[in-house]
Amino acid sequence: MPTVLILGAGSDMAVAVARKFAKQKYDLQLAGRNVSLLEALKNDLNIRYGVNTEAVAFDALDFASHTGFYNSLAVKPDITICVFGYLGDQEKGQADWTEAARILHTNYTGAVSILNVVAEDYAAKKQGLIVGISSVAGERGRQSNYLYGSAKAGFTAYLSGLRNRLFHQGVHVLSVQPGFVATRMTENLQLPGLLTAKPEQVAEDIYKAVNKKKNTIYTKWFWRYIMLIIKSVPEFMFKKLKL
Ligand SMILES: NC(=O)c1ccc[n+]([C@@H]2O[C@H](COP(=O)([O-])OP(=O)(O)OC[C@H]3O[C@@H](n4cnc5c(N)ncnc54)[C@H](OP(=O)(O)O)[C@@H]3O)[C@@H](O)[C@H]2O)c1
Repeated sequence: MPTVLILGAGSDMAVAVARKFAKQKYDLQLAGRNVSLLEALKNDLNIRYGVNTEAVAFDALDFASHTGFYNSLAVKPDITICVFGYLGDQEKGQADWTEAARILHTNYTGAVSILNVVAEDYAAKKQGLIVGISSVAGERGRQSNYLYGSAKAGFTAYLSGLRNRLFHQGVHVLSVQPGFVATRMTENLQLPGLLTAKPEQVAEDIYKAVNKKKNTIYTKWFWRYIMLIIKSVPEFMFKKLKL
């Protein structure tokens, strides 16, 4: 079966994605900072679905390690799903560069650093599929999370350019734009129930989109239209809103 590399595999969304692909008998490479947690997930997936799974150490902020990390994978993945992210503390980041840099580097630079390595391999082989989890927060800057949003905006643009480049080599790139998702990242936020997806719904949408070779998906689907409305608000009005 094809192998899926999940970067940031300990996240709630990634666990749901791993379960979905394991259920469909894909082999998995679970990459993240907390390898002991990933070992537990690996054992569970092995027993439950009988797929080959390995847990590997990966830190998105350790840019210098990324080429070595990818080269050390015994089997090169057919599909790479970049899930890691960091919402961070917007107010803290406004005054504290360490926090701002962590937000920017986790959501943008780290993702670009590792996906550049994966992209070179896929381009040379003329096959492969890359999935990037960005965010609707990247579509319009808001006062409550523009550090995170601006990094996701950069990541969305990166994925678009990568898709355009790799299309000519037979490599596919899928951009995923989640709206609200009930995970560890958002557990302290008051999210509107109807607009909020469960990680399992996001995983289902990603799995379907991979199989249909979609370019961009919103999950839940109606976020595409919510963002169309939000993007159409004129700037002179938008700047007055408390968002
Ligand atoms: N939840 C939402 O409402 C929402 C909405 C839109 C987009 N997203 C995006 O969806 C993705 C998954 O988020 P989630 O909601 O599932 O969040 P989550 O449960 O908080 O997971 C974030 C993951 O990123 C990993 N991570 C952070 N810094 C890392 C680093 N330097 N190196 C490697 N891994 C690192 C964390 O690793 P550890 O396990 O080691 O902490 C964690 O597994 C993220 O890209 C997020 O920005 C989420």
